[in-house]
Amino acid sequence: MPMNTEKKFYEMDLDERLSFISSKSNISKNEISTAVNQALPFDKVDRMVENAIGNYSLPLGIATNFVINEKEYLVPMAIEEPSVIAAASHAAKLARSCGGFKATADSSIMRGQIQVTNISDIKKAMRTISKNKVSLLKMANSLSKNVKAIDLKTRVITSDVDRSKMLVSELYVDCKDSMGANTINSMCELVGPEIERKTNGNGKVNLKILSNYATERIVTSKATFKKEELGGIEVVDRILSAFAFAFSDPHRAVTHNKGIMNGIDAVSIATGQDFRAIEAAAHAYASRDGRYRSLSIFTKSSKGDLTASIEIPLSVGIVGGISTVHPTAKMSLKILGVKSASELACVIASVGLAQNFAAIRALSTEGIQKGHMRLHAKNIAVAAGAMGKLVDIVAETMYSQSNITIDNARAILHELQLKSS
Ligand code: MEV
Repeated sequence: MPMNTEKKFYEMDLDERLSFISSKSNISKNEISTAVNQALPFDKVDRMVENAIGNYSLPLGIATNFVINEKEYLVPMAIEEPSVIAAASHAAKLARSCGGFKATADSSIMRGQIQVTNISDIKKAMRTISKNKVSLLKMANSLSKNVKAIDLKTRVITSDVDRSKMLVSELYVDCKDSMGANTINSMCELVGPEIERKTNGNGKVNLKILSNYATERIVTSKATFKKEELGGIEVVDRILSAFAFAFSDPHRAVTHNKGIMNGIDAVSIATGQDFRAIEAAAHAYASRDGRYRSLSIFTKSSKGDLTASIEIPLSVGIVGGISTVHPTAKMSLKILGVKSASELACVIASVGLAQNFAAIRALSTEGIQKGHMRLHAKNIAVAAGAMGKLVDIVAETMYSQSNITIDNARAILHELQLKSS
């Protein structure tokens, strides 16, 4: 976001940051502060998971400068790794010069799968399911007013284990603004036994579960970065060469995509999404042509600028699930100001792309350790017992000595304390 205050967001103290978010979002400072510091009460935690003993917290920061489809966003990110939020914000700032990110999202269709095994006559079973499609869809839809099953298709799958045939009935469900997992699973569990009844001994229903491989929920985002702002055509070429490496080698592609997921997971966690589902789908999609590749693509425009794009399945929701229960997730969605699941998906994909661009730009130029180690040094200083202003002094001293260890932090701290006593 272009700061109309003198200070940049990262230069502000906590109170100034909250005031800034409040001025952009019309949410009171108090409301924001309460929500982002509120642990879930134990009775809630105890209802959410088994054997509960408490809460687990992560740092929550705000990525700035994001313009996506011409709308400004302050993006909450929950992540423990230093540099990620700064890198995303910086990439978003560079993308602004060419209009920011342009993103699209498919409608929110997901599949529920019902596995039918032990079929004596596959074609007959397929005909039976197809003949009963309307009533089966009606049955599925009796469970929900908003989320709707819109189609039912069948596929024959040959087991790669024993070459036996199975039939998979797939419910196509429009999840609208929800992620949809619970409703789809309930639909499958309701419709599955009915399919078995209708097939009348010609098959046994086994699994009834959604597919997290959200290939009908694809999101794209792209951005252009001016060569002059990257450090010239040589840097553009270095980034292209980094991309070629990730596109061609799975060992590099996994790390490249990990950089993308740094952004995607951090926004997903902040907004209460099922990031495991997102991760699983992303990596399957990265292998869609039979080889694990980078999820993003980089090219050079006719002017020599860098164009970056990403295509990724994203099943996210802004209603239902944890995103409407967890105070911090609710507040993160409010700060983002997204009005639909597809808008949220566009933001998440764009942050993933920004993160990835920032990482490979750093890797192609100065490397990532410089920025990383400065922040790491602060953590070590705190671990050694430094407090207040001493944190920065100890960290900077270790950094300038290129000796960032807990022993050195303790020694520097000890010396500083002796001097001031
Ligand atoms: C570190 O969390 C992420 C990177 O390794 C990504 C990459 O290598 O592209 C820097």
